[in-house]
Amino acid sequence: MSAEPLEIYLEEQDIGRSLREDVRAGLTARPKWLPPKWFYDARGSELFEEITRLPEYYPTRAERAVLAERAGEIADCTGAKTLIELGSGSSEKTRLLLDAFTRRGGLGTFVPLDVSVSALRQSTAQIATDYPQLRVRGIVGDFTRQLDRLPTGGRRLVAFLGGTIGNLLPIERVEFLTAMRAALEAGDWLLIGTDLVKDPAVIVPAYDDAAGVTADFNRNVLRVINRELGADFDPEAFDHVAAWDPEQEWIEMRLRARRPMRVRVLDLDVEFAAGEELRTEISAKFRPERIRAELAASGFVTEHFWTDPGGLFGVSLARAD
Ligand code: AVJ
Repeated sequence: MSAEPLEIYLEEQDIGRSLREDVRAGLTARPKWLPPKWFYDARGSELFEEITRLPEYYPTRAERAVLAERAGEIADCTGAKTLIELGSGSSEKTRLLLDAFTRRGGLGTFVPLDVSVSALRQSTAQIATDYPQLRVRGIVGDFTRQLDRLPTGGRRLVAFLGGTIGNLLPIERVEFLTAMRAALEAGDWLLIGTDLVKDPAVIVPAYDDAAGVTADFNRNVLRVINRELGADFDPEAFDHVAAWDPEQEWIEMRLRARRPMRVRVLDLDVEFAAGEELRTEISAKFRPERIRAELAASGFVTEHFWTDPGGLFGVSLARAD
C-alpha cells in the first residue's frame, strides 16, 4: 500500500501563530528562552540525523541496541493492532519494531506523528514501500497537543522514543503523561525511551561534539526565526553552550551572545548583552525509579524496563491501567 496523504492537524497558520507566541514569550522573558520544537525545519531535521551518527551522541545507538534485542518481546507482549509513533522524525529505529510485528503478524496500521512535514513525507513514503501490508497514516502535529486525535480501535501501542520526553519541563511532563493516559484505553501500551543519569563527562560531549554539528543544530532555531518571521539574528554571533545542571539532572543547550546585539523580530527590539544566554533546550536524564514513579502517577504500570548493555539508555514498556 502506498502511504495515505498526510493528515495535517497543524496548519501552516497554527504553526505560524504558535511560533510567534513562543518567540514573543521567550524573547521577552528573563532569562530568554525558545522551545526546542523550532529546531526541526528540513535543515534542522537533517542536522539532527547527523547528530545521531556522531561518535559522542550515544542515545540513538543505545536505544537502537535495546530495541534490536527486545522488539520481538514488545510485539508479543503488546499484541498491538496499531502502532503510533510520537515525534517520529525519520522513524529509523521504529523499523526494528515494524520488522518484529511483521514476523509476528497482526499489526495493521502505523501512525507516525511529527511536526516536520519534510521528515514525515520521506518516512511515510519509505515505510509504505518497505512494509506493503501496512496502512501508513502520517499525522503532522505537535505531540503535546494532538493526543486527542489519535486513531481508535484495536489494541494500540504508542512509541515515544529517542528520549524526547526529556525535552519537556517536569510540569509539562506530568501534563503530557496525563493527557497520554486519557487518550488511551486500559490495556493499551506506551513504549517510552529515556536517557539515563550518568557521568556528565559522557553526557556533555554528546551535546557539544567536536565536529560542531550540535552547535549548528542549535543555531538553526535562529535561522528558522529569521526565515519565518523576517527577523535579523546573526546566528554566527552566538556561541553554542551545553551545560549540565546537577540539581535538575538535565543538560541545557543555550546560545550565548558574543557581543551586544539588538535583534528586530515581530514588533520587538530584543537586546542581548555580551555574554547573555538564550536557553534553547533542556534534555532531562532519568533514574529508573523516577521513570516508573512518573508513569505510575499518570496511570501506567511499567511491565518492563530495559537498558542497553552499557546501561546508558532506558526503554520502558508500560500498560495503561
Ligand atoms: C531527540 C530531543 C531527544 O534531547 O538528545 C540532540 C535532541 N538536542 N542534540 C536530545 C538533541 C541536541 C534530542 N532529542
